[in-house]
Amino acid sequence: MKRLEPGPFIVPMPIVLVGADIDGRPNFMTAAFVAISNYEPPMVACGLNPAHRTCDGIVANKAFSICVPSVDLVEVVDYCGIASGHKEDKSGLFRVFRGDLPGAPMIEECALCAECRLVGATPLGVDTLFVAEIACVHAKDECVVNDRVDWSKISPLLFTFPDPSYWRLGGYVGKAWHIGKTYHAKKGTDGAGATTR
Ligand SMILES: Cc1cc2nc3c(=O)[nH]c(=O)nc-3n(C[C@H](O)[C@H](O)[C@H](O)COP(=O)(O)O)c2cc1C
Repeated sequence: MKRLEPGPFIVPMPIVLVGADIDGRPNFMTAAFVAISNYEPPMVACGLNPAHRTCDGIVANKAFSICVPSVDLVEVVDYCGIASGHKEDKSGLFRVFRGDLPGAPMIEECALCAECRLVGATPLGVDTLFVAEIACVHAKDECVVNDRVDWSKISPLLFTFPDPSYWRLGGYVGKAWHIGKTYHAKKGTDGAGATTR
């Protein structure tokens, strides 16, 4: 094994657009340091540099949105990660819709969007960890089957670092909390005690 400098090594990272209102106008930034961090209530944690314009809105409103773009939006997504609302107006890039949470502008062009209520902000170093409760999720009609998101209908944008590169999702591998039961059986047990979380 070769020793490497420490860095963000868990890949791929999901690419999202984080949205917040600033002075009554929506602003969106690209983010990769985003993870689901609690099951119930559903929470998300985002490592964001507090100097970004979007963070001004997050702190002021105690709310923000997370929008999941598909690969076809890669150019405008990359632009949102290059241009700052400190210098450029990004309010007209997307068709914006709103839910119940003030200060959480969402993007019609994205397959999935969530309204997030800020519950904490912890400075870590360069970035601050913004932790939020997911108040509501909105999905495009055509991506929902039987009230569940059909992931085969969404092509999320993935990111690797330090190349840095965008990728699309590969193929289906198997059913979670299920495929391991065969392994369990091979070890001489029947996997009957296996549970989902
Ligand atoms: C692929 C990509 C991923 C990024 N991920 C993050 C991230 O996770 N956290 C962060 O603070 N900035 C991240 N950025 C940088 C911000 O998106 C960028 O600085 C943006 O211009 C900030 O916009 P704002 O000042 O309008 O908020 C990323 C940029 C790109 C291109």
